Amino acid sequence: MTTLACAYRHTLFGLIFAIVGIALGIYMASTHNHVQHVTHAHILLLGLVVSLLYASVLRLWMADQPASWLITAQLLLHQIGTLVVSAGLFALYGQLLAEPVLGPILGLGSLAVFGGMLLMLLLFVRAGRQVGATAPGAAPRAAELVGRRAG
Ligand code: HEM
Ligand code: HEM
Repeated sequence: MTTLACAYRHTLFGLIFAIVGIALGIYMASTHNHVQHVTHAHILLLGLVVSLLYASVLRLWMADQPASWLITAQLLLHQIGTLVVSAGLFALYGQLLAEPVLGPILGLGSLAVFGGMLLMLLLFVRAGRQVGATAPGAAPRAAELVGRRAG
């Protein structure tokens, strides 16, 4: 999948998580039953906030890169992991399934989310090397550009 297609999907799934998370927030507020507040927090923070951060990093730093299975794997790890963690937390706090059943599911989901973050770190470092952002002299060059624009 291309970088832009992955960025689009992170944004789309992020906005879908936002609808679900905010709906849960409104439900909690209107029923005065806050038992799902941890689920609500993670649907919105992992689902909406982190997904949109990933989409922004892809657009800002990797937009010109060719299609890559690593970027696709990063998308899948984060989105599937977040879905598993969100559903698992909902079942845990709603007491729909027993903790011994949910423990391994939540563990796997968390590892997928963690793997997605680790992969994004690697991709970001690789992208930095490619554009020369980490090369010696990059900072003075950037300062020079800013100076030129200001002048
Ligand atoms: C109309 C939208 C929203 C409503 C009605 C709503 C409602 C709620 C309610 C009732 C709680 C439980 C408070 C408690 O028992 O402590 C809560 C907690 C929380 N909400 Fe929302 N929320 C909304 C949007 C959001 C958004 C957009 C985010 C993040 C991007 C967010 C992040 C959180 C977090 C992190 C907590 C946990 C705070 C804590 O308990 O430590 N909420 N929200
Ligand atoms: C897979 C990744 C994650 C796991 C396994 C995880 C796990 C947890 C756990 C076990 C708690 C304590 C819940 C309790 O009070 O009983 C918690 C709370 C919290 N986490 Fe996470 N977390 C993850 C990712 C994140 C991320 C990425 C953010 C922010 C961007 C975040 C923000 C929070 C907040 C704000 C709370 C307090 C929520 C509340 O009290 O309602 N977490 N998390």
